[in-house]
Amino acid sequence: MRFFDLTAAALITLGTVSAAGPVFLFTTFSTSSTAVRDELIASMDNVSRWSCANEPGVSKHAIFIPRGGSDATTAYSIEQYDDEAALQKHLATEIMTNLHNSTTWSKITTSSVQNFTVINSTSSSFFRSDQFALVSDPYVVIQNLTYSNTGGMRHVIEHQEEAIEYASKSENGTLALGLYTDPTNNKRLWTLGAYESEMYKRDVHDKSGMAEELEEHTGGMRTSRREILLAKKGGFLFKGAGGCV
Ligand SMILES: *[C@@H]1O[C@H](CO)[C@@H](O)[C@H](O)[C@H]1NC(C)=O
Ligand SMILES: *[C@@H]1O[C@H](CO)[C@@H](O)[C@H](O)[C@H]1NC(C)=O
Ligand SMILES: *[C@@H]1O[C@H](CO)[C@@H](O)[C@H](O)[C@H]1NC(C)=O
Ligand SMILES: *[C@@H]1O[C@H](CO)[C@@H](O)[C@H](O)[C@H]1NC(C)=O
Ligand SMILES: *[C@@H]1O[C@H](CO)[C@@H](O)[C@H](O)[C@H]1NC(C)=O
Ligand SMILES: *[C@@H]1O[C@H](CO)[C@@H](O)[C@H](O)[C@H]1NC(C)=O
Repeated sequence: MRFFDLTAAALITLGTVSAAGPVFLFTTFSTSSTAVRDELIASMDNVSRWSCANEPGVSKHAIFIPRGGSDATTAYSIEQYDDEAALQKHLATEIMTNLHNSTTWSKITTSSVQNFTVINSTSSSFFRSDQFALVSDPYVVIQNLTYSNTGGMRHVIEHQEEAIEYASKSENGTLALGLYTDPTNNKRLWTLGAYESEMYKRDVHDKSGMAEELEEHTGGMRTSRREILLAKKGGFLFKGAGGCV
C-alpha cells in the first residue's frame, strides 16, 4: 500500500481557516416554492455566466437542486474563489449587488453556508477528467463524513487520497473527486464527486477493491456519512481550455 505525503501546510489546515488559501462555499438555500427556486436558479446561472467571462478569481460557481427526491424548494450552490480577496471583489460587483437587492433574493427563506478547506497537500486530494465536459447531467455527490477522533484524521485523509488517486487512473466514469477538510469541525471531511451516472457510482466506483479497502481501513472510525445528491441546473464547476463546464 502506498501513502501520499502530506505537507505540513495541509496538516495545519485541519481545523483552521486559512486566510490565504482558496475559499470554498457550499450553500443550502430554502425557498417558499418551486417558482421562487426557479427564479433563484436563473439569477445564479446568470451570475455564473458573467463570472466565467469576467472574473478569473472565481473557479467554481454552480447551482444545483436535490436529485431524485420530492424536495422541490431547496437549491444548493458550490462556489470557489482563489482567495478571500477574490470573494470580496465578487461580492462587490454590480451584478452581485443587484442580485442581493433583488426581489428574488428577498424571497429566499433561509440560506446556510458551509465552508470547506481546500487541501493543498499533493495533487491526490483532487482530480477531474476532461470527460466531465462531455456529460450533460453529471451525477454530483457531496459527502459529509464525521469521524470519532481527531488523532486518526491524518490516516483517514491518506486513505481517501489514495482512493482519489486510484479513481483518477482507473475509473473512466468518475469525472471528478475532491477531498476537503472542515474549518469548523476537525473530525469532519467533505468530498465532492461527479460521476457519469448513478449506476456508474453505485456499480463501479462504490464496489471497486479500492472502495472496499477504504471502508476496511476507515469505516470503523466513521460515526456518520451523509450523501447529498445533486443535479446541476446552471453555472460551472470547472474552468479550463474548453470554457466553463
Ligand atoms: C498550493 O500548492 C501550489 C503548488 O505547490 C502552490 O503554488 C500554492 O501557493 C499553494 N496554495 C496554497 C493556498 O497553499
Ligand atoms: C443578468 O445579468 C445582466 C448583467 O450581466 C443583467 O443586466 C441582467 O439583468 C441579469 N438578468 C437576470 C435575469 O438576472
Ligand atoms: C435596491 O432596489 C431598489 C428597488 O428596486 C432601488 O430603489 C435601490 O436603489 C436599490 N439599492 C441598491 C443599493 O442598488
Ligand atoms: C466561511 O468563509 C467566509 C468567506 O471566507 C467567511 O466570511 C466566513 O466567516 C466563513 N465561515 C466559517 C464558519 O468559517
Ligand atoms: C453534516 O453531518 C452532520 C452529522 O450528521 C450534521 O450534523 C450536519 O448538519 C451535516 N451538514 C450538512 C450541511 O449536511
Ligand atoms: C471505460 O472503460 C471500460 C472498461 O475498460 C470500457 O469498456 C469503456 O468503453 C470505457 N469508457 C470510456 C468512455 O472511455
